[in-house]
Parts: sequence; C-alpha cells; structure tokens
Amino acid sequence: MSCRRKFLKRAGYTTVSALLATGFLQKYKQKEDYSTNADRENYASANVTSSLRQLAAAKGKRYGAAISSDFLLKEKDYANLIARECSIVTPNGELKWNATEPQPGQFTFESADAIADFCQKHNIDMHGHTLFWHMGKPDWLPYPPTLKMIEQHVKGVMGHYRNSKVLKSWDIANEIIADNEKETDNATYGLRKGLKPELIRDLFLIAASVDNSKKFYLNDFGIEGATWKSEHFLKMVEYLKNSGVKIDGAGIQSHLWFSTAYSFDEKGFNSVLERLNDLEVKPIITELDIIIDAPLPDSIEKLDQMVADSYKRYLDLCFAAKVDTVITWGLTDRHTWIRHPDWMPGKTFRDNPNLWKFLRPLPFDENFQPKPAHNAIAQAFEQAS
Ligand code: XIL
Repeated sequence: MSCRRKFLKRAGYTTVSALLATGFLQKYKQKEDYSTNADRENYASANVTSSLRQLAAAKGKRYGAAISSDFLLKEKDYANLIARECSIVTPNGELKWNATEPQPGQFTFESADAIADFCQKHNIDMHGHTLFWHMGKPDWLPYPPTLKMIEQHVKGVMGHYRNSKVLKSWDIANEIIADNEKETDNATYGLRKGLKPELIRDLFLIAASVDNSKKFYLNDFGIEGATWKSEHFLKMVEYLKNSGVKIDGAGIQSHLWFSTAYSFDEKGFNSVLERLNDLEVKPIITELDIIIDAPLPDSIEKLDQMVADSYKRYLDLCFAAKVDTVITWGLTDRHTWIRHPDWMPGKTFRDNPNLWKFLRPLPFDENFQPKPAHNAIAQAFEQAS
C-alpha cells in the first residue's frame, strides 16, 4: 500500500483521492473523445436565463448541491446563489456522526439546523447525509458500530428531524462496499471488512421504525459503470429489497474523473441505471463533480469545455433513465472539496500547486459566475424528456 494511502487511511480517509493515489480508481476514469469537432456544443456562449432549479422543476426534477453552514452564514452571495439555483441541498458535514453525536448519547444539531432553517426560508429540500459511514465518525465510535450504538444514533438524529418539513431523504448508509476484492471478507456483497449484511439490514429496519416518512437511500461511489464495486452494490441493494426493508433509492455519488486517456463505460453505467430501475430502487445522483486529469489541456477554456461536455453526456444518460434528482458536490469551485490537499486526486495535482487552477469540477467558478458546465447542465435539463 502506498505511503500516501497509509497516511490517508491513518487519518481515517479512504477517499476518492486515496483510491486515485493508488491508481485504484484508474479504471473508473472515464474517457471522452475530445477531438475538436465543429458541431459540438459551445457552452461558453450559451445564455441561460432561468436558474438550474427552475429548469429542473420544469421537467419535474430537482437540482441541488452540497452546502456548508459556515459559508452559508459568512458569505451572503453564496447564500443567494444557493437559494437561486438549488431546490435540494445536502449538508457537507453537518449531519455526519462526528457532528451530530460527538460524545455517546450527546446530540448537537446547531449547524444542521442552520441549514434546515435556510431550507425552510427558501423552500428547499434537505437531504440527510449520512447516518452510517466509515469516515466522519467521532473517535469514540468503532467501525462497525454496535447495533446498540446504531439504534441510539438513529433514534437521536432521525428523531430530531422526524417532523421536519424540509428534510425529505436520508443516506441511511454510505460507502459500505469495499474498494476492491482484497478489502472485503464478504465475497457475496463485497462489504467493507467487519460489516455484515444483517447489520445494514437492521440499520434500515431501525430507521424505518423511527421515521418511515422519508426516502431511504444506500449511497456509494465508483459504481458509475460495470465494475466489481457496482456489481456488489447491486447485490446488496437486492439483498435489502429481498429482506423486506424500506429502500427507496440508490445514491450514485458520481465523483467522475475524465481525461483523454480513459474510456467512459457508458454501456456499464446504463446497465447500473437499468438494474436499479428494475429493482424499483430509484437512481439518485448525489455527489456529482467532474475532474479532468492528466494529460491536461493547455488552457482553462479547453478544460472547462471538457468538463461541460462530460456533464452533458453524463446527465443525458441519467435523464434517459428517468433520474429526477441531481446533486452536485458543491456549487462553486471556490469551495470544492477536491481542492483540499487531503482529497486532491492523483499525483498530477497533489504535488503541483501550479495545476490546482485546473481543478474546476462545478457549475460556478470561484467568483460565482456560471461556467460552461453550468450551461451544459442547464441544457441537459432543457433537453430531458
Ligand atoms: C467530504 C466533504 O466534502 C469534506 O469537506 C470532508 O472533509 C470529507 O467528506 N463521499 C461522501 C462525502 O459521501 O461525505 C464526502 O464529503 C466526499 C466523498
């Protein structure tokens, strides 16, 4: 295991970037054919007058982003942008175990409630992320937690939002499938070491006993194609369905990594979407952002065009499969998680700060101006059937 990955693992992070650093997600890197062709949309010039929220609503869909309570309170223009563009938001960290139950049985909701109040004021849905995850957990909590710990946590946190008019859905469990066959001791479902399918089943059952009025999702990354991980994720979804638990949706995080050097598994992604729809477990895009990796284009304009093309292509596939909720992991490059050294993908960026300006995964730039990616997302909503 690379020293980088050991560092990140020690820090409790088995993140997208750690996997990227080990090259694990290489096979998830997707390729677009960026040979310039005249008839490809030029998103830079599109003049979009409606907000993404309005364009989504016109097709009975929702668009939103992960947001942070501290920026919401500190940056007025950030708050205005969210209110204008989003019909759903996900707290970036405010509903994770370390934020809501820092000590056993002691619950805190100030930062999450600040987001809930903002949602109430602006008629925005709130997506609860997440009740169960191997990261974002307080030091006192083992992984996996005992069923007793899970029960106390779910009762405390879901109970707090049971009567909420804005919180409509939960990532009941997040990233429970291992990164690869070496990281699991469960051949059937590929669960992270120590996890048993029955524990996840019981987690969903406890959640339903506390508040079955919300939508329940199982959320993961690296399942945007025909992969070992997506195969096992689908098996776990099937197991939950067959166990009779309430599971309404599958969160496809969609932290995508495109480049001229990798192939996008369009066929595989379509089959994941189709199999979820067949299982009557709605595919939800929960954490979409798009990184372009080496070989990098020679200008920001070209990079932005590549990002825009990738958004359009990905969302066209999603909407063809009747996806009705798209959440990007952030709205503006100013606050993207992927610019944080802990999460920065791959060797390309981490060791080359002069390349960080190429990390532009979101619809709005650092100054909250719409980018070609914004126009591409707008067009995808406009063209959705
Ligand atoms: C990330 C946040 O964006 C960071 O600010 C935080 O430091 C770590 O977690 N998949 C998930 C999200 O489900 O919760 C992660 O969010 C990104 C990867």
